[in-house]
Amino acid sequence: MPLPLDVEAIRADFPILTRTVRDGKRLVYLDSGATSQKPRSVLDAERWFYENVNAAPHRGAHQLAEEATAAYEAARATIGAFLGAPENEIVFTRNSTESINLVAYALSNAATAKEPEFRRYAVGQGDEIVVTEMEHHANLLPWQQLCERTGATLRWLGLTDDGRLDLSDLDTVVNERTKLVAVTQQSNILGTINPLGGIIARAHEVGALVLVDGAQSVPHQKVDVTELGADFLVFSGHKMLGPTGVGVLWGRYDVLDALPPFLTGGSMIEVVRMEGSTFAAPPQRFEAGVPMSAQVIGLAAAADYLTALGMDRVQQHEEVLTGYALEQLQAIPGVTVIGPPDTVARGGAISFTVDGVHPHDVGQVLDDLGIAVRVGHHCAWPVVRRYGVPATTRATFYVHTGYDDVDALVEGVREAQRFFGVVPAVTEGGTN
Ligand code: ALA
Repeated sequence: MPLPLDVEAIRADFPILTRTVRDGKRLVYLDSGATSQKPRSVLDAERWFYENVNAAPHRGAHQLAEEATAAYEAARATIGAFLGAPENEIVFTRNSTESINLVAYALSNAATAKEPEFRRYAVGQGDEIVVTEMEHHANLLPWQQLCERTGATLRWLGLTDDGRLDLSDLDTVVNERTKLVAVTQQSNILGTINPLGGIIARAHEVGALVLVDGAQSVPHQKVDVTELGADFLVFSGHKMLGPTGVGVLWGRYDVLDALPPFLTGGSMIEVVRMEGSTFAAPPQRFEAGVPMSAQVIGLAAAADYLTALGMDRVQQHEEVLTGYALEQLQAIPGVTVIGPPDTVARGGAISFTVDGVHPHDVGQVLDDLGIAVRVGHHCAWPVVRRYGVPATTRATFYVHTGYDDVDALVEGVREAQRFFGVVPAVTEGGTN
């Protein structure tokens, strides 16, 4: 089947893909789930900012400051359009992790806020926060810490043997005591795409807020916040072809408006006196300090690049590759995919184990062949523990991934088996 995206044309946009690794081997980059490579247009956008308008946005009356502010706010509008959201619902942060911590600290700060209008979503003793066993540490530890600060209780939805959320006890886990449900849209380790509709409906039925971790979904599928229906969505720029050091918190305006700040300082204020201060309206309330300006401009360029490819086509492209890779990998004796075995509600993150070869050794053999994958617990330790493995090898796909990359991976896994003597070496004309 022809791939939905023109891989050769796309590869030509990524300068790093022209380099070789490990003594002249082609770089087979299958670690976009950890961080994606950057197309030239993103690199150019950052360079443009520094070479032409570099100044602190929202400060200063000079021409550069005005132009930097205009570029920064235009980028906000681009990201808003990318998500189908008004621009005043887009808060720029450092990454998904900071976006989630922002919400978690705002909810605990709410309990002690002197302004009554900021106490609406306060979390305290007797309240519950719900996560799932599938969460990245970034969507788990901030909630554990919130519970420790406030005396609230953390509850979670478990996983089924085939790598999906176990929703059989949704109605008891999410109940009248629940203040917030935090759930990933796509697992970074299992590739599972979660059925968020029912979870969000249940959360709203009991008056809870919903935060969706889109770190692994927003780069790979069309996400429209109106269709999603959650209260918060977070994602990172560096996983969607954008720069490192920039992320997004989208929040429903009325919810953002009812939250106290997380970080305080310059530019997030309304009036400052020695006796006390008042805060700006969102999104400025949540953007203390000079922002990561060039990175925001680069992120908008990344969104433009993805929009030009078409997010539906990006998703279809990865789905075709995922189906192909699942078929090829599962045909190798001794290889077990951890996560959904087919492409139903599944994205392009494939974790697997190889009998008799430690994941780190698989990664080492692949690296020697020029193939970059991630090994370990992938910052989702409870998931590997749930499936009784110490770690996995994980391949993740993106817009420049082609069949040749998947073939290289599959051959590399066979090579690891041969290297460690797990299956007999392939003889000419034979198979293992
Ligand atoms: N969250 C990133 C990953 O899954 C780092 O690899």
